[in-house]
Amino acid sequence: MKQAILKLLREDNQIFSGEALSARLGTTRVSIWKHIQGLKKAGYEIEATAKGYCLKESPDIPFPWECGLREKWVHYYDSVPSTMDVAREKARQGAPGMSVVVAGSQTGGRGRLKRVWRSDEGGLYFTLILRPDVTPQASGRIVLYAATIWPKVLKSLFGIEAGVKWPNDILINEKKVAGLLAEMETDFDQVSHLNIGIGINVNNDPFTREPGATSIKNEFRRCVSIKDLLIAYLDAFEADFKIAGSVSVIYEWKKQTVTLGRQVKVVTPRSVTIGIAEDVDDHGGLIIRKPDGSRQTAVYGDCFHNDLE
Ligand code: BTN
Repeated sequence: MKQAILKLLREDNQIFSGEALSARLGTTRVSIWKHIQGLKKAGYEIEATAKGYCLKESPDIPFPWECGLREKWVHYYDSVPSTMDVAREKARQGAPGMSVVVAGSQTGGRGRLKRVWRSDEGGLYFTLILRPDVTPQASGRIVLYAATIWPKVLKSLFGIEAGVKWPNDILINEKKVAGLLAEMETDFDQVSHLNIGIGINVNNDPFTREPGATSIKNEFRRCVSIKDLLIAYLDAFEADFKIAGSVSVIYEWKKQTVTLGRQVKVVTPRSVTIGIAEDVDDHGGLIIRKPDGSRQTAVYGDCFHNDLE
Protein backbone atom coordinates (compact mmCIF):
# COMPACT_ATOMS: atom_id res chain seq x y z
CA MET A 1 0.00 0.00 0.00
CA LYS A 2 2.85 2.43 0.84
CA GLN A 3 4.28 1.83 -2.62
CA ALA A 4 0.94 2.66 -4.24
CA ILE A 5 0.45 5.80 -2.14
CA LEU A 6 3.94 7.07 -2.98
CA LYS A 7 3.42 6.33 -6.68
CA LEU A 8 0.32 8.54 -6.74
CA LEU A 9 1.88 11.33 -4.68
CA ARG A 10 4.95 11.31 -6.93
CA GLU A 11 2.97 11.62 -10.16
CA ASP A 12 3.62 15.26 -11.13
CA ASN A 13 3.85 16.18 -7.45
CA GLN A 14 0.15 15.58 -7.09
CA ILE A 15 -1.87 16.46 -4.04
CA PHE A 16 -4.40 13.83 -3.00
CA SER A 17 -6.95 14.00 -0.24
CA GLY A 18 -7.32 10.98 2.03
CA GLU A 19 -10.66 10.38 0.39
CA ALA A 20 -9.26 10.46 -3.15
CA LEU A 21 -6.40 8.14 -2.18
CA SER A 22 -8.75 5.67 -0.53
CA ALA A 23 -11.02 5.68 -3.60
CA ARG A 24 -8.10 5.23 -6.02
CA LEU A 25 -6.52 2.46 -3.98
CA GLY A 26 -9.68 0.69 -2.93
CA THR A 27 -9.12 0.94 0.80
CA THR A 28 -10.44 2.87 3.79
CA ARG A 29 -9.42 6.39 4.76
CA VAL A 30 -8.25 5.03 8.11
CA SER A 31 -5.89 2.66 6.36
CA ILE A 32 -4.55 5.52 4.18
CA TRP A 33 -4.07 7.67 7.27
CA LYS A 34 -2.16 4.87 9.04
CA HIS A 35 0.15 4.37 6.06
CA ILE A 36 0.77 8.11 5.77
CA GLN A 37 1.71 8.19 9.47
CA GLY A 38 4.00 5.20 8.88
CA LEU A 39 5.71 6.96 5.97
CA LYS A 40 6.18 10.13 8.03
CA LYS A 41 7.69 8.09 10.83
CA ALA A 42 10.04 6.48 8.32
CA GLY A 43 11.33 9.94 7.34
CA TYR A 44 9.08 11.00 4.45
CA GLU A 45 8.13 14.66 4.51
CA ILE A 46 4.42 14.66 3.74
CA GLU A 47 2.52 17.90 4.14
CA ALA A 48 -1.18 17.76 4.94
CA THR A 49 -2.63 20.82 3.14
CA ALA A 50 -6.28 21.85 2.89
CA LYS A 51 -6.42 20.09 -0.49
CA GLY A 52 -4.75 16.93 0.74
CA TYR A 53 -1.42 15.19 1.17
CA CYS A 54 1.64 16.46 -0.66
CA LEU A 55 4.98 14.60 -0.73
CA LYS A 56 7.82 17.08 -0.22
CA GLU A 57 10.84 14.87 0.39
CA SER A 58 11.71 11.15 0.49
CA PRO A 59 14.61 9.72 2.50
CA ASP A 60 17.32 7.89 0.55
CA ILE A 61 16.59 4.55 2.17
CA PRO A 62 15.94 1.25 0.36
CA PHE A 63 12.71 0.46 2.16
CA PRO A 64 10.92 -2.58 0.69
CA TRP A 65 8.14 -0.41 -0.75
CA GLU A 66 10.77 1.54 -2.76
CA CYS A 67 11.89 -1.64 -4.50
CA GLY A 68 9.01 -2.15 -6.96
CA LEU A 69 8.16 -5.79 -7.64
CA ARG A 70 10.80 -6.94 -5.15
CA GLU A 71 8.93 -5.40 -2.20
CA LYS A 72 8.08 -8.74 -0.60
CA TRP A 73 11.66 -10.01 -0.78
CA VAL A 74 13.48 -6.96 0.60
CA HIS A 75 14.07 -6.78 4.37
CA TYR A 76 15.35 -3.42 5.55
CA TYR A 77 16.85 -2.65 8.98
CA ASP A 78 18.19 0.67 10.26
CA SER A 79 21.03 -1.12 11.98
CA VAL A 80 21.94 -4.76 12.60
CA PRO A 81 25.09 -6.46 13.85
CA SER A 82 25.59 -8.02 10.39
CA THR A 83 23.26 -8.60 7.44
CA MET A 84 25.02 -11.98 7.05
CA ASP A 85 23.57 -13.19 10.37
CA VAL A 86 20.06 -11.98 9.61
CA ALA A 87 20.22 -13.49 6.11
CA ARG A 88 21.46 -16.83 7.46
CA GLU A 89 18.51 -17.01 9.83
CA LYS A 90 16.08 -16.05 7.09
CA ALA A 91 17.58 -18.62 4.71
CA ARG A 92 17.29 -21.34 7.36
CA GLN A 93 13.67 -20.35 7.87
CA GLY A 94 13.01 -20.82 4.15
CA ALA A 95 13.37 -17.32 2.64
CA PRO A 96 13.17 -17.67 -1.14
CA GLY A 97 16.11 -17.12 -3.47
CA MET A 98 16.72 -13.46 -4.40
CA SER A 99 15.63 -12.24 -0.97
CA VAL A 100 17.67 -9.25 0.16
CA VAL A 101 18.63 -8.20 3.69
CA VAL A 102 19.80 -4.59 3.71
CA ALA A 103 20.85 -2.32 6.56
CA GLY A 104 21.60 1.37 7.00
CA SER A 105 24.59 0.47 9.17
CA GLN A 106 26.11 -2.55 10.88
CA THR A 107 27.61 -2.77 14.33
CA GLY A 108 29.50 -6.01 13.65
CA GLY A 109 30.09 -5.96 9.89
CA ARG A 110 32.32 -8.84 8.77
CA GLY A 111 34.83 -8.95 5.96
CA ARG A 112 36.72 -11.81 4.33
CA LEU A 113 39.32 -13.70 6.34
CA LYS A 114 37.69 -12.74 9.64
CA ARG A 115 38.29 -9.03 9.18
CA VAL A 116 36.02 -6.29 10.44
CA TRP A 117 34.01 -4.43 7.79
CA ARG A 118 33.44 -0.89 8.98
CA SER A 119 29.82 -0.12 8.26
CA ASP A 120 29.05 3.51 9.03
CA GLU A 121 25.95 5.23 7.75
CA GLY A 122 26.31 6.35 4.16
CA GLY A 123 27.45 2.99 2.82
CA LEU A 124 25.33 0.24 1.30
CA TYR A 125 25.36 -3.07 3.19
CA PHE A 126 23.32 -5.99 2.02
CA THR A 127 23.20 -9.76 1.74
CA LEU A 128 21.56 -11.59 -1.13
CA ILE A 129 20.02 -14.96 -0.33
CA LEU A 130 20.39 -17.27 -3.31
CA ARG A 131 19.21 -20.78 -3.89
CA PRO A 132 21.11 -21.74 -7.01
CA ASP A 133 20.71 -25.16 -8.51
CA VAL A 134 24.45 -25.86 -8.58
CA THR A 135 27.01 -28.01 -6.81
CA PRO A 136 28.95 -26.42 -3.95
CA GLN A 137 32.02 -26.39 -6.19
CA ALA A 138 30.30 -24.26 -8.84
CA SER A 139 29.01 -21.77 -6.28
CA GLY A 140 32.31 -19.86 -6.34
CA ARG A 141 31.45 -18.76 -9.86
CA ILE A 142 28.25 -17.19 -8.59
CA VAL A 143 30.29 -15.03 -6.22
CA LEU A 144 32.56 -14.02 -9.10
CA TYR A 145 29.43 -13.26 -11.10
CA ALA A 146 28.18 -11.00 -8.30
CA ALA A 147 31.48 -9.11 -8.43
CA THR A 148 31.44 -8.63 -12.21
CA ILE A 149 28.15 -6.74 -11.97
CA TRP A 150 29.68 -3.81 -10.06
CA PRO A 151 31.98 -2.38 -12.76
CA LYS A 152 29.04 -2.42 -15.19
CA VAL A 153 26.69 -0.68 -12.74
CA LEU A 154 29.26 1.95 -11.70
CA LYS A 155 30.03 2.67 -15.36
CA SER A 156 26.40 2.95 -16.42
CA LEU A 157 25.25 5.07 -13.46
CA PHE A 158 28.25 7.33 -12.93
CA GLY A 159 30.67 6.74 -15.80
CA ILE A 160 33.18 5.42 -13.24
CA GLU A 161 35.76 2.86 -14.42
CA ALA A 162 36.04 0.12 -11.83
CA GLY A 163 37.67 -3.30 -11.94
CA VAL A 164 37.68 -6.54 -10.00
CA LYS A 165 40.75 -7.50 -8.00
CA TRP A 166 41.02 -11.25 -7.49
CA PRO A 167 38.95 -12.78 -6.14
CA ASN A 168 36.19 -10.23 -5.73
CA ASP A 169 37.24 -6.82 -4.45
CA ILE A 170 35.97 -3.89 -6.46
CA LEU A 171 38.59 -1.22 -7.10
CA ILE A 172 38.44 2.28 -8.50
CA ASN A 173 41.88 3.69 -9.31
CA GLU A 174 43.45 0.83 -7.32
CA LYS A 175 41.45 1.75 -4.20
CA LYS A 176 38.86 -0.57 -2.75
CA VAL A 177 35.29 0.64 -3.02
CA ALA A 178 33.45 -2.63 -2.35
CA GLY A 179 33.97 -6.15 -1.08
CA LEU A 180 32.01 -9.38 -1.19
CA LEU A 181 31.69 -12.11 1.39
CA ALA A 182 30.04 -15.47 0.72
CA GLU A 183 28.52 -18.00 3.11
CA MET A 184 27.00 -21.25 2.02
CA GLU A 185 25.11 -24.16 3.53
CA THR A 186 24.85 -27.44 1.69
CA ASP A 187 22.57 -30.40 1.68
CA PHE A 188 24.59 -33.41 0.51
CA ASP A 189 26.09 -32.24 -2.78
CA GLN A 190 23.58 -29.46 -3.44
CA VAL A 191 23.70 -25.87 -2.26
CA SER A 192 20.78 -25.22 0.07
CA HIS A 193 21.57 -21.51 0.22
CA LEU A 194 24.39 -19.27 -0.87
CA ASN A 195 24.41 -15.87 0.79
CA ILE A 196 26.49 -13.13 -0.76
CA GLY A 197 27.15 -10.10 1.41
CA ILE A 198 28.20 -6.89 -0.25
CA GLY A 199 29.51 -3.74 1.33
CA ILE A 200 30.08 -0.73 -0.89
CA ASN A 201 31.30 2.67 0.20
CA VAL A 202 28.83 5.13 -1.23
CA ASN A 203 28.47 8.48 0.56
CA ASN A 204 30.75 7.61 3.50
CA ASP A 205 34.42 8.49 3.93
CA PRO A 206 36.24 5.20 4.61
CA PHE A 207 39.64 6.56 3.56
CA THR A 208 39.93 8.67 6.71
CA ARG A 209 40.68 5.42 8.54
CA GLU A 210 41.67 3.17 5.66
CA PRO A 211 43.99 4.83 3.17
CA GLY A 212 43.54 2.02 0.61
CA ALA A 213 39.78 2.59 0.42
CA THR A 214 37.58 4.97 -1.50
CA SER A 215 33.89 5.70 -1.91
CA ILE A 216 31.65 6.58 -4.83
CA LYS A 217 31.22 10.07 -3.38
CA ASN A 218 34.97 10.51 -3.31
CA GLU A 219 35.40 9.41 -6.92
CA PHE A 220 32.27 10.99 -8.37
CA ARG A 221 32.62 14.18 -6.31
CA ARG A 222 29.02 14.16 -5.17
CA CYS A 223 26.58 12.15 -3.10
CA VAL A 224 24.55 9.54 -4.95
CA SER A 225 21.36 7.66 -4.14
CA ILE A 226 21.95 4.50 -2.11
CA LYS A 227 18.44 3.32 -2.94
CA ASP A 228 18.90 3.73 -6.71
CA LEU A 229 22.29 2.04 -6.52
CA LEU A 230 20.85 -1.04 -4.82
CA ILE A 231 17.99 -1.26 -7.31
CA ALA A 232 20.35 -0.86 -10.29
CA TYR A 233 22.60 -3.59 -8.88
CA LEU A 234 19.72 -6.01 -8.26
CA ASP A 235 18.31 -5.39 -11.75
CA ALA A 236 21.66 -6.09 -13.39
CA PHE A 237 22.31 -9.08 -11.14
CA GLU A 238 18.98 -10.69 -11.97
CA ALA A 239 19.19 -9.94 -15.67
CA ASP A 240 21.98 -12.43 -16.37
CA PHE A 241 21.62 -14.70 -13.37
CA LYS A 242 21.06 -17.72 -15.61
CA ILE A 243 24.77 -17.68 -16.56
CA ALA A 244 25.92 -17.21 -12.96
CA GLY A 245 26.95 -20.81 -12.29
CA SER A 246 28.41 -21.47 -15.73
CA VAL A 247 31.94 -21.17 -17.06
CA SER A 248 30.96 -18.09 -19.10
CA VAL A 249 31.21 -16.17 -15.84
CA ILE A 250 34.94 -16.77 -15.94
CA TYR A 251 35.17 -15.01 -19.34
CA GLU A 252 33.16 -12.10 -17.99
CA TRP A 253 35.34 -11.93 -14.88
CA LYS A 254 38.46 -11.86 -17.04
CA LYS A 255 37.03 -8.86 -18.92
CA GLN A 256 36.45 -7.00 -15.67
CA THR A 257 39.58 -7.88 -13.74
CA VAL A 258 42.53 -5.62 -13.03
CA THR A 259 44.63 -8.47 -11.61
CA LEU A 260 45.65 -10.65 -14.58
CA GLY A 261 49.04 -9.92 -16.04
CA ARG A 262 50.18 -8.19 -12.84
CA GLN A 263 52.86 -8.99 -10.27
CA VAL A 264 50.92 -10.30 -7.28
CA LYS A 265 51.45 -11.54 -3.77
CA VAL A 266 48.78 -13.90 -2.45
CA VAL A 267 48.85 -14.36 1.29
CA THR A 268 47.04 -17.04 3.28
CA PRO A 269 47.58 -17.88 6.95
CA ARG A 270 49.87 -20.68 5.75
CA SER A 271 51.63 -19.38 2.66
CA VAL A 272 52.81 -16.43 0.61
CA THR A 273 52.93 -16.85 -3.16
CA ILE A 274 54.61 -14.26 -5.34
CA GLY A 275 54.59 -14.18 -9.12
CA ILE A 276 52.67 -13.08 -12.19
CA ALA A 277 48.88 -13.55 -12.13
CA GLU A 278 48.64 -15.49 -15.34
CA ASP A 279 45.07 -16.77 -15.52
CA VAL A 280 42.11 -18.09 -13.55
CA ASP A 281 40.86 -21.65 -13.74
CA ASP A 282 37.25 -22.73 -14.31
CA HIS A 283 36.45 -22.24 -10.64
CA GLY A 284 38.09 -18.87 -10.26
CA GLY A 285 41.36 -20.11 -8.73
CA LEU A 286 44.22 -17.71 -9.53
CA ILE A 287 47.04 -19.30 -11.53
CA ILE A 288 50.32 -17.68 -10.54
CA ARG A 289 53.57 -18.12 -12.48
CA LYS A 290 56.34 -18.05 -9.92
CA PRO A 291 59.84 -16.66 -10.58
CA ASP A 292 61.19 -20.22 -11.09
CA GLY A 293 58.65 -20.75 -13.89
CA SER A 294 56.45 -23.16 -11.94
CA ARG A 295 52.74 -22.48 -11.54
CA GLN A 296 50.61 -22.47 -8.42
CA THR A 297 46.86 -22.01 -8.14
CA ALA A 298 45.56 -19.94 -5.25
CA VAL A 299 42.01 -20.77 -4.25
CA TYR A 300 41.68 -18.19 -1.50
CA GLY A 301 43.75 -15.56 0.22
CA ASP A 302 44.56 -11.90 0.23
CA CYS A 303 45.83 -10.64 -3.08
CA PHE A 304 48.16 -7.66 -3.33
CA HIS A 305 49.04 -6.03 -6.61
CA ASN A 306 52.74 -6.16 -5.89
CA ASP A 307 53.83 -3.87 -8.70
CA LEU A 308 52.33 -0.95 -6.77
CA GLU A 309 54.43 -1.43 -3.67
C1 BTN B 1 35.59 -8.05 2.19
O1 BTN B 1 36.02 -7.41 1.25
O2 BTN B 1 36.32 -8.38 3.13
C2 BTN B 1 34.12 -8.42 2.21
C3 BTN B 1 33.29 -7.37 2.87
C4 BTN B 1 31.83 -7.73 2.92
C5 BTN B 1 31.03 -6.75 3.74
C6 BTN B 1 29.56 -7.00 3.63
S1 BTN B 1 28.60 -5.65 4.22
C7 BTN B 1 27.16 -6.59 4.10
C8 BTN B 1 27.51 -7.97 4.58
N1 BTN B 1 27.42 -8.02 6.03
C9 BTN B 1 28.61 -8.23 6.60
O3 BTN B 1 28.80 -8.33 7.82
N2 BTN B 1 29.55 -8.35 5.68
C10 BTN B 1 29.01 -8.21 4.34
